[in-house]
Amino acid sequence: MSNNRFLIAYTLIVFTIAFIGCKQKAELEATNKYSNTSVKNIDERVDSVLKLMTLTEKVGQMNQYNGFWEITGPIPKEGNAKMKYEHLKMGLVGSVLNVQGSVNVRKLQEIVVKESRLGIPLIFGFDVIHGHKTLSPIPLAEAASWDLKAIEKSARVAAIEASAVGINWTFAPMVDISRDARWGRVMEGAGEDVYLGSKIGAARVKGFQGDDLAANNTIAACAKHFAGYAFAEGGRDYNTVDVGTSTLYNVIFPPFQATIDAGVRTFMNSFNVVNGIPATANKFLQRDILKDKWQFNGFVVSDWGSGGEMIDHGFAKDLKQVAELAANAGSDMDMESYAYVAHLQKLVEEGKVTMAVIDDAVKRILRVKFELGLFDDPYKYCSAEREKTLIYNAKHQAAVLDMAKKSIVLLKNNKSILPLSKTQKNIAVIGALANDKNSPLGSWRIGSDDSTAVSVIEGLKQYTTNFKYAKGANLITGKASFIEELKINETDKTGFAEAVELAKKSSVVVMVLGEHGFQSGEGRSRSKLDLPGVQQQLLEAVYKVNKNIVLVLMNGRPLAITWANEHIPAIVEAWQLGSQTGNAVAQVLFGDYNPSGKLPITFPRSVGQVPLYYSHYSTGRPGPKDLVFWSHYMDESYKPLYPFGYGLSYAKFAYSNLTVNDADKANIKVSVTITNTSKIAGEEVAQLYIHDKIASVVRPVKELKGFEKIMLKAGESRTITFTLTNKELGFYNNDGVFIVEPGEFEVMIGTSCNEGLSAIFKL
Ligand code: NOJ
Repeated sequence: MSNNRFLIAYTLIVFTIAFIGCKQKAELEATNKYSNTSVKNIDERVDSVLKLMTLTEKVGQMNQYNGFWEITGPIPKEGNAKMKYEHLKMGLVGSVLNVQGSVNVRKLQEIVVKESRLGIPLIFGFDVIHGHKTLSPIPLAEAASWDLKAIEKSARVAAIEASAVGINWTFAPMVDISRDARWGRVMEGAGEDVYLGSKIGAARVKGFQGDDLAANNTIAACAKHFAGYAFAEGGRDYNTVDVGTSTLYNVIFPPFQATIDAGVRTFMNSFNVVNGIPATANKFLQRDILKDKWQFNGFVVSDWGSGGEMIDHGFAKDLKQVAELAANAGSDMDMESYAYVAHLQKLVEEGKVTMAVIDDAVKRILRVKFELGLFDDPYKYCSAEREKTLIYNAKHQAAVLDMAKKSIVLLKNNKSILPLSKTQKNIAVIGALANDKNSPLGSWRIGSDDSTAVSVIEGLKQYTTNFKYAKGANLITGKASFIEELKINETDKTGFAEAVELAKKSSVVVMVLGEHGFQSGEGRSRSKLDLPGVQQQLLEAVYKVNKNIVLVLMNGRPLAITWANEHIPAIVEAWQLGSQTGNAVAQVLFGDYNPSGKLPITFPRSVGQVPLYYSHYSTGRPGPKDLVFWSHYMDESYKPLYPFGYGLSYAKFAYSNLTVNDADKANIKVSVTITNTSKIAGEEVAQLYIHDKIASVVRPVKELKGFEKIMLKAGESRTITFTLTNKELGFYNNDGVFIVEPGEFEVMIGTSCNEGLSAIFKL
């Protein structure tokens, strides 16, 4: 070909490509002109976009990258950041995580919208776990409120804040039922119970997503980690998970199903293997159960690098096989494994992944983007004006304070040492955590600012100046961060003498002890459940000189505080309560708020008992028995320190008149009367448990199947009624079929899983 001819041919090709590109972008824009966003229209719009996409672009939608450069600074010139930037322009990225700020998000969105061929907007993910800028209590603490409205509101506030800085997708709620206190991520869920965890998971989804996902202050939620992540052997994060069918269907799955019923739009799979198959490549979980059986039509994102980790698991030989296995198993979007973007196209060309698999994944992703309204306005979450409202949002601070108060659990109050009198003289406050503005913020707070919590000392100052503070000992040595291992002070006791001297001269000692906020969370498993470092020694040293101690615990998991329970007259579980920690604690200590929380997770007596949970099976050798042949320990009680559902109030409640009406087997009515026998108003969480006595698959000794939180004035009585239907009385057999079996049931209503009135009824 002569040079001229070549030039003409080349120019023609370039023009043709450009023409097709422009035409398709115009077509895409035309598809966005629908104003009615009904589901049918969304599906039509999804199809109309899919039709325009090349295989490369489809694979691009299935790729998610972490944020990667100072977006408002110069464009990256080399390395990984440069590659990601180029991929954005080429339409090879469907989502970005960990980018926030209206300016940053807009910048990235502009690159794909303006520079990629089809301009399909990105969806921006972020771990909005317990608040965003204004921090709520950690999720486990919120669960202790048993207050679904408050929990929903907390998620709502988080969504309002996150959506103001460009985020439109949170990786929450975590609905893993967690029964091993060693596992650091117990802080991120709703605790050990299926029923409570399901209700809370649904409430959080509703809070994040609101009534209208297309509104600019609602964000897509993500139920995670599908599935079994909390059952890591030894409580060691990322470890092997091996669970039986009954546990899978009756314990692990139900909270996920509840989030689907609540409309959750995305799922995240998990790092672990489930019975030998990594969750990310688990076809049974993602296709058979989630997408086929449960008909979930949102999308599944992998966990961070969980695709690539299948090589370490010994399940895939390289990233290409990772892509093949994960995509075929129904993992729609690859978070930071670089497997899909590198290999999926080739795998389709080789026939190892079908176009139908790709189209299904892409449609799911596009659907959520349409539902969020991103095609109508890709910049709708980027508002400098709304962003400004986050600097110090008094309304949001009030909301998280309310949540924080409700999350506190009163564990012990001998001789009514609490509440403290506002005129109490000579109060000693001891413990590094009392003066800490950082640790109470908890673990997941990357959207917020360090050291911004109201400390306990600051909270107490609102009530009294009659206190003195002595630290006693540092909890940590060195810095605390989300990613680095924390160093605990195991030796330095030089501050003990000052604390002991102060305690000697004081009428009452408030000791704030427990875990640092970064001692729980991802990668933070512990093999001990005691007070970390030298805190137990400090507690005992102070106790020697002053027994009048109020122990305020801060922790992200159950602690085995058996010694404290035996010796210390008052114990307040204050978890990590977020931005308003100190104010919430002070209000409880001085009685302006009457504590109403109940434990969402069992507190063991010692670490050797875990996993310890109330809803266990009976075993064939229940006890106690005289001889050794029953299920117990030689050197520790088999009972918990504080059971699930336990929590005191400054008021006192009595239960009476339990009645069961089982005339209508489809709606069995169980009533009880609760009386506030004290002189102050208070809230009680009445809990209903059942026991299916004989079943074709053994059932737990107790299962929560209803609860109601009621406020009772001093002396007031109220009768409440629960209705038990097949939903509460049935269970999944080992074929995954939900069945309801006739027979005898025991029902109990009470103040915790261990205390209440019971009756028998027949189904
Ligand atoms: C890993 C965690 O397991 C997951 O829960 C989180 O959402 C992702 N990282 C993204 O940060």
